[in-house]
Order: sequence, then structure tokens, then C-alpha cells
Amino acid sequence: MTIISICTLTTIKEAAKSLKQGNLVAFPTETVYGLGADATNKDAVARIYDVKGRPTGHPLIVHISSMSNLDKWARDIPDYAIILARAFWPGPMTLILPRTGLAKDFITGSQANIGIRVPAHPLALSLLQEFEALGGFGVAAPSANRFGKVSPTNVEAVMAELSDKLGINDLILDGGQSQIGLESTIIDCTNKIPQILRPGAVDSLMINSVIAGSMFQNIKYDNSKNIKTSGQLETHYAPLAQVFLNGEPKSGDGFIALSKFTTPSGAIRLASPQNNVEFAKLLYSSLRKADNEKIDKVFVIPPEGEGIAHAIRDRLQKCSTRKS
Ligand code: TXA
Ligand code: MG
Repeated sequence: MTIISICTLTTIKEAAKSLKQGNLVAFPTETVYGLGADATNKDAVARIYDVKGRPTGHPLIVHISSMSNLDKWARDIPDYAIILARAFWPGPMTLILPRTGLAKDFITGSQANIGIRVPAHPLALSLLQEFEALGGFGVAAPSANRFGKVSPTNVEAVMAELSDKLGINDLILDGGQSQIGLESTIIDCTNKIPQILRPGAVDSLMINSVIAGSMFQNIKYDNSKNIKTSGQLETHYAPLAQVFLNGEPKSGDGFIALSKFTTPSGAIRLASPQNNVEFAKLLYSSLRKADNEKIDKVFVIPPEGEGIAHAIRDRLQKCSTRKS
């Protein structure tokens, strides 16, 4: 495995070639780092599952460089999905759509639907463009962490998660700190009415501002639906430390809250974000910090409000649900 820390067009072309040859390339996106493979190469995709320790049958998101490639992977695309794609791609939004024949069972977990996203990171886009220039169709990329763990938001975190699992020909592209820090909003577009399956930076207000009104009632997040989204497993996104919401930390416990909250006496401050956007950006790296510093209890004051605060609370809820 090689880390490419200064990504030039030459190294990105090499990375695209390596993907096309069937190797894995971990790459930055604006949400979190992804572990990429050629989405049409069954063996390469099987290695993603192996490296992540992810049970097979969990579908993967296919990343493409532009919405003009959408109909290669998806069919029967409703008008509202086109409106969403125009409004928020490239960006932190994944659309679930009926699949074409290109999307095989090994990508979709045998579901009839495919998850598609155009990421907004320049390095990711350039990698996807170069990959498509070589005849590639799309790059399957889950978050670049071991199954059930916190998504990586910088290259050190990718290394900590996967370095001992990646092979000699695999690559990691360093694109600095992820701007958003939480995974993309997932929207199910397979019914007459869209449904948010995983909240993210594209929030319900933004979604409604482009498609609600004449077309729909307000769209809200609904996780009651029985759809195979692994992020909906109860103990997803969990660090080793036990996470508590709103409790009182004792001496030596970790503490994460907006900067307006003072640190309880004896607690170890892991992050003091100034606002909710910064909270999202710092959350995963501060949970990792707790694990690195062998802190076994972390107390978090979840941010209030809608938008990204809602996505933060969703992840916190999941990582505070204790494994038994
Ligand atoms: O921001 C993101 O979405 C990142 C970056 C790398 O793009 N990717 C990511 O992938 O978070 P992953 O695999 O860690 O989470 C994707 C979620 C999973 O919970 C998966 O089950 C769900 O999307 N998903 C993918 N395809 C699906 C499908 N066809 N139907 C329902 N859920 C799907
Ligand atoms: Mg993930």
C-alpha cells in the first residue's frame, strides 16, 4: 500500500489506472474518506468487503463524476430525483434509484436499487473523471473504516483503520481533512414520494426548498422503513469508548460539546466546536482521539436544532447505543 500525499494530475491518473486494474484506492470526499473499487469488477468489490470486514449483502454507493452518467446505473428516474441531482450534485447526497443491468448483485446486495453519488471533492472528481476516461463506469466506495466503526475524516484515520488490511498495490490518496465530516444524506427515490433514509448535510429544508410545495408535502427523515441500509444498524459508527449523551462526566472522562459549554471539572475536553457545522467536522476525529488516548467514556452534549444538527444527533444516537 502506498500513500500519495501530494496528488497531481499524474498521480491521479496512476490511481485511476490502478483502480481500473482491480486494485483498491482510498480517496477523500467532502463527507468522509471512501474505499474505492471498480464497481463493475466483482473481485475488486469483494476485496472491499474483506478489507472492511463488512458482511456481504450490504449495498455499496457507486460514485460517478457527473449526473450525465446517471442513466448508466439507474433507470425510471423520477422528475424529483433529477431536480435533486441538479440542485445538490456534486455534493453530500446519495440517491437510491432502480438499477440498470450494469449494477450487479455484488454492488446492490441483490436489491433492485442502486445508491449513486457525485462527490464534491476536487480530488475525488478528478479521480472519477480519469477513471471514466479509461473506460470505467463508476467507483464503489463505502466509508474507509472497518465495519461498524467511525468513518475516517483524514488520512491518518484511514491508516489506523485499514493499513494492515490493504495490499501492496492499493493506494491511499491524501486530500486533507474532510470538509463536512459526516456521511452523505441518503434519499430513497424509488417511490412516488422521496424519503430520507440517512440524514446528512443536504437537509430536509434544502430538499423541500427544491421539490416540496406543488409536488409534495414536506419530506422528513424516516428510519422506520425496512430497507437494507447498514447505517441503520443500531451500533453503527461506534468508537471503542462508550458514548453517553447529556450525562455528567467524571474525572478522566472525555467531553465533547459546543464551545459555549464549559468543561466539567476533571473531564478531558476532546472538542469545542464554535457551531454545528464545525461540530460535524470534528465529531469523528474527536471520538478517535478518545480511543487513541485510551479514554473509555465520552460524554457529549448533542447540538440542538435542525439541518446538520439533526445528522449529528442521528450519528450520536447510533454510537451511544451500547453493544451488549
Ligand atoms: O458520504 C458517503 O456516503 C460516504 C462517501 C465515501 O461517499 N460513503 C458511505 O458509504 O457512507 P457506506 O457504505 O459507509 O454507507 C452507505 C450506506 C450504507 O448504509 C448502505 O447500506 C446504504 O448506503 N446503501 C447503499 N446502497 C443502497 C441501496 N441500493 N439501497 C439502500 N441503501 C443503500
Ligand atoms: Mg460507512
